[in-house]
Amino acid sequence: MSQGKKVSIIGAGNVGATVCYWLAMRKHCREIVMIDRYEGLAQGKALDILQATSPEGSHTQISSSSDYHSIANSNIVVITAGSPRKPGMSRDDLLMINANITKEIIEKITHYAPNAIIIIVSNPLDAMTYVALKVGHYARNRVIGMAGILDSSRMETFISQKLGFGYGQVTASVMGGHGDDMVPLPRYSSVNGVALTDLLTDVEIEEIIEKTRHGGAEIVSYMGTSGYYAPANSTVKMIEAILSDSRSIFPCAVLLEGEYGYHDTVNGVPVVLGANGVEQIVELPLNEHEKKQFSKSVESVNKLLETLHKSEFFVQ
Ligand code: 2OP
Repeated sequence: MSQGKKVSIIGAGNVGATVCYWLAMRKHCREIVMIDRYEGLAQGKALDILQATSPEGSHTQISSSSDYHSIANSNIVVITAGSPRKPGMSRDDLLMINANITKEIIEKITHYAPNAIIIIVSNPLDAMTYVALKVGHYARNRVIGMAGILDSSRMETFISQKLGFGYGQVTASVMGGHGDDMVPLPRYSSVNGVALTDLLTDVEIEEIIEKTRHGGAEIVSYMGTSGYYAPANSTVKMIEAILSDSRSIFPCAVLLEGEYGYHDTVNGVPVVLGANGVEQIVELPLNEHEKKQFSKSVESVNKLLETLHKSEFFVQ
């Protein structure tokens, strides 16, 4: 357990507040600040979460503000702010709206918390990670997109549901962007060491892959808004790894500079997370089929980046 660490969360909506809750309950940092334009909302949630922590003996101090001064000296800043996904809306529809919001926030973070590591949760996630990197002129180890852990945990859930056993014992791996072209990797998935391919047929595995790709949209279709428990838990896993310098491997969205054959684009790949953020990028020996899928995912993200470049977003 780390002591004396500070995490700031931009956006006190469902994901932001749930990150705050998980983090406070697990006692991994001394201070959490939630920033939101709607001060009352952030204040109410901060107080509610703080009151939940007392019976747990948590020492974490939680506060809220609409003033970015409060994020000074943060070790990590999590960006969850942005327009949420509405039913029928793709993550990509959010591109321009959220790129502008991310830009504004990054300008504040570079001013008030210049040494923080940034975790991006806002969608479209890979493009927003790229925006944060470029607008903030950050070294690539310091800006990390969240979704690979989330997509992998969705795949793990669908695997256990299909099998009817192995709950909590499944390890699944999903690479690629956080979109419909993500790349679930059955070859790197197992149930307590037993290969998935020995437990399920090709057809069953394909069904799980499709469900995983649309895992986020399925939740939107039920609730009319995005999920937040699983996204928040995935974010907290990353925070814990960074604050404790655990050097754990997780799939995260990072800037590629030659890895897997791609340059100047963000995509989800396995990375080692530690005190410096991304300590290392792991290059898996993908087979031809996996390479093709990964290339499709890179192309989808590149289309979004092209839209941003064409609109001169980065020269404003
Ligand atoms: C999801 O997949 C919000 O993108 C997020 O649920």
